[in-house]
Amino acid sequence: MNQQRTVGVGLISVGWMGKLHARAYSSVPYVYPELGIKPRLVVAADTEQSRVDYAISTLGFERGTLDYHEVLADPEVDVVSICAPNFLHAEMAIAAAEAGKHFWIEKPAGRSLAETQSIEQAVARNGVETSVGFNYRHAPAIERARQLVGDGRLGEITNVRASFLAGYAADPRAALSWRFNRELAGSGVLADLFSHAVDLCSHVVGSIQSISAATNVMIPARPKLSMGQGTHFDLIEGGEMGEVENEDYAAALVRFSPEGLAQRAIGTIEASRVAIGPQCGYRLEIYGTEGSVKWDYERLNELEVVLGRNNEEQGFTTVIGSPGHGEYSRFQPGPGNAMGFDDLKIIEAKKFLLAVCGGEKTNSTIADAVAAAALVEAAEKSAATGDWQQAGKPAQGQKMQY
Ligand SMILES: NC(=O)c1ccc[n+]([C@@H]2O[C@H](COP(=O)([O-])OP(=O)(O)OC[C@H]3O[C@@H](n4cnc5c(N)ncnc54)[C@H](O)[C@@H]3O)[C@@H](O)[C@H]2O)c1
Repeated sequence: MNQQRTVGVGLISVGWMGKLHARAYSSVPYVYPELGIKPRLVVAADTEQSRVDYAISTLGFERGTLDYHEVLADPEVDVVSICAPNFLHAEMAIAAAEAGKHFWIEKPAGRSLAETQSIEQAVARNGVETSVGFNYRHAPAIERARQLVGDGRLGEITNVRASFLAGYAADPRAALSWRFNRELAGSGVLADLFSHAVDLCSHVVGSIQSISAATNVMIPARPKLSMGQGTHFDLIEGGEMGEVENEDYAAALVRFSPEGLAQRAIGTIEASRVAIGPQCGYRLEIYGTEGSVKWDYERLNELEVVLGRNNEEQGFTTVIGSPGHGEYSRFQPGPGNAMGFDDLKIIEAKKFLLAVCGGEKTNSTIADAVAAAALVEAAEKSAATGDWQQAGKPAQGQKMQY
């Protein structure tokens, strides 16, 4: 693609993710000039006037509105970012699809499997492109791990350990944002972090077939925070308390689908928002008969690797980010220069816009969100019943494995 194409961007919600989406769009022409894609920041919506003002004065949007419907009705908008709290996602995404707007939606796309499937149906009806905020997929070290798995360098996958342990709500003074309310967020850490872990496992290793899970609420009440104020990292002294309605912690045992090199693989997935110590301790470890890899988001640019059973040097070698890994070379010319979270969002924006403009489709889609939602729902059911739950369809001729 070398023709210039201007893409009109509408942003819905100017919170943490909204700002990142805006920055990511603006960075695409700098990082990927050869694509000729020029995002134009047309209009941003938020119910907080100060955030609309910020979108215009600082992020560079031409217009602002308190009503997201105006973003969807705007003929100059080609693509929409949906960065609202979870309870608004389905309503906004379905309206975007019906308005013929391609959309990039933050995870979790819906609060439940049914809601996520209703978005998928609207997308299919209207033929729009989608992307989902599964940003950790784009880390160059993760792409390298995926390549090693895909090329068979780890041999048959024996087991996978994914643990997404965060401390943002470890302090009982941590604000009761919309994330802790079932109506507004759906599930708790299952939707927030576990869904990321599920997506990473699927992206790098393969889909998950069945699951057994347990969950807990560790801190049952927190000080309230109004919508559109502060962030979920805020600590509030005193103030009115409200109930935490969804889980703080989840642990699961999973079986991968009997396909490819993960035929017999078993995994553990753990997620917490109340861990003391790890702040964003998002780890993926993959063990195979011929080698293993380990990644930790807190050390985004490093991948620990061991290849072969008979190495003189036993144990893991730390490999640092380098131009051969994923999209690293688009950001830094030589190895060892650090990339950050925002860069992953730029890669996500590029993949979305490229798909919208008729280029290669390497974007995550609403189908990936449905797959993650199916796992989250199966985990919730398993936690409630104590039984293993099926999370995917068995391959033809295969029996479900528990
Ligand atoms: N991909 C990731 O790693 C990642 C990280 C953080 C958050 N998220 C997801 O992003 C989404 C947003 O999270 P956040 O942390 O940016 O939230 P936030 O609380 O920082 O921002 C939410 C914004 O939505 C606005 N809003 C509320 N109602 C609205 C309405 N009717 N119309 C327009 N705007 C409205 C609020 O005023 C606020 O500005 C969530 O779904 C969350 O799960 C994803």
